[in-house]
Amino acid sequence: MSSETQTETWNDRFGASLMRSLTPPKIMLERGQGCRVWDVDGNEYLDFLAGIAVNSLGHAHPALVEAIADQAAKLVHVSNYFATPPQLELAERLKRITGAGDAGRVYFGNSGAEANEAAFKLARLNKGADGQKTRILALKQGFHGRTMGALALTGKPALQQDFLPMVPGVEHIDSTVDALEESIDDTVAALVIEPIKGEAGVVDLPEGFLLAARRLTEAHGALLILDEIQTGVGRTGNWFAFQGHGFRPDAVTVAKGIAGGFPIGALVTFGWASELFSAGQHGSTFGGNPLGTRVANAVLEEIERADLVAGAVTKGERIRAGIQALGSPLVEEVRGTGLLIGVGLTGPIAAAVNAAALERGLIINAPNESSLRIAPPLIVSDAEIDQFVSILDQSLAAVAAAQETTA
Ligand SMILES: Cc1ncc(COP(=O)(O)O)c(C=O)c1O
Repeated sequence: MSSETQTETWNDRFGASLMRSLTPPKIMLERGQGCRVWDVDGNEYLDFLAGIAVNSLGHAHPALVEAIADQAAKLVHVSNYFATPPQLELAERLKRITGAGDAGRVYFGNSGAEANEAAFKLARLNKGADGQKTRILALKQGFHGRTMGALALTGKPALQQDFLPMVPGVEHIDSTVDALEESIDDTVAALVIEPIKGEAGVVDLPEGFLLAARRLTEAHGALLILDEIQTGVGRTGNWFAFQGHGFRPDAVTVAKGIAGGFPIGALVTFGWASELFSAGQHGSTFGGNPLGTRVANAVLEEIERADLVAGAVTKGERIRAGIQALGSPLVEEVRGTGLLIGVGLTGPIAAAVNAAALERGLIINAPNESSLRIAPPLIVSDAEIDQFVSILDQSLAAVAAAQETTA
């Protein structure tokens, strides 16, 4: 079968069978190794997106492969009527790496959205002495997932409009300390925020914002819930981004990178927030099953063994310096921390740069019309970073040349 025929075939099959909620992809991938993936026609790509900050150990890492195979042969699933060793080990590990410690507790689900649904229910349980805590605050442009609770928390009206009415009680505020001061009082049950707004284009919060959020939520008995689904698991150079700011939240949601691609999510609570849920108030058939938790343990263990959290800082700096050294007139700014990097472009050219990169064998993404997102596996090497910079350089140059031709 010629490559063209094969491509047409899978495109047609995708169009005929997948829900229209998904935009049809341009490439069908078949296998991966480390930071590289190959499509069905044998073309190689350098993966600097990692399934959107998911494949922490890259593709086909032996630690992940071994954990899946070994656990699959032992025990895959048992229901929440039973405990299993990997489940307990992962809960204890998460309490340790988040710093929640002895007073921490962990709920397991299967995705980021589910972790945030659990966080939403946690917020509802923080009612206040007279039931006055009825408001949940989240940020404009924040992203928390596609299920109805997570969507209500998401500060993007365009994503919500076809699915109204939203779950009530959520208000979206500006990402400013003034907005925090104006909005947080004793009627607030929780403030839910991403430490870096990933889907908004890897946008940093203003200086002092997180500490002000901590101070005000604490003063008013509101939960500070951090969505670290994209920023967590070592990507920003700490296990969790909040640890770079010197405070503790009341809850953290985790997913994406925690099991390197195996679907699992978690809500980790700190201190008094750990006392809010009681038996029977929440659950999930698959949540915390032995296969998912075993894989997450293996991934976290390997991140720790290979010192990939500290590595995210140095590798992130190499990427940042490489992009800045290009001196491209199309690059306005470089945002983010560690290996979660946003490139702000001078105009609505992100899709063009993304497409030019893909043509040259580089996978990144364009979360909006003027931003690129770069989130390689934590195992990325210096040589791969240099190759990335070189392809990005060519891609920016190609878009700049096309702009000149049309000008
Ligand atoms: C910050 C954040 N929260 C929540 C989610 C939703 O996670 P999932 O797609 O696993 O449901 C995402 C996914 O992109 C995310 O980036």
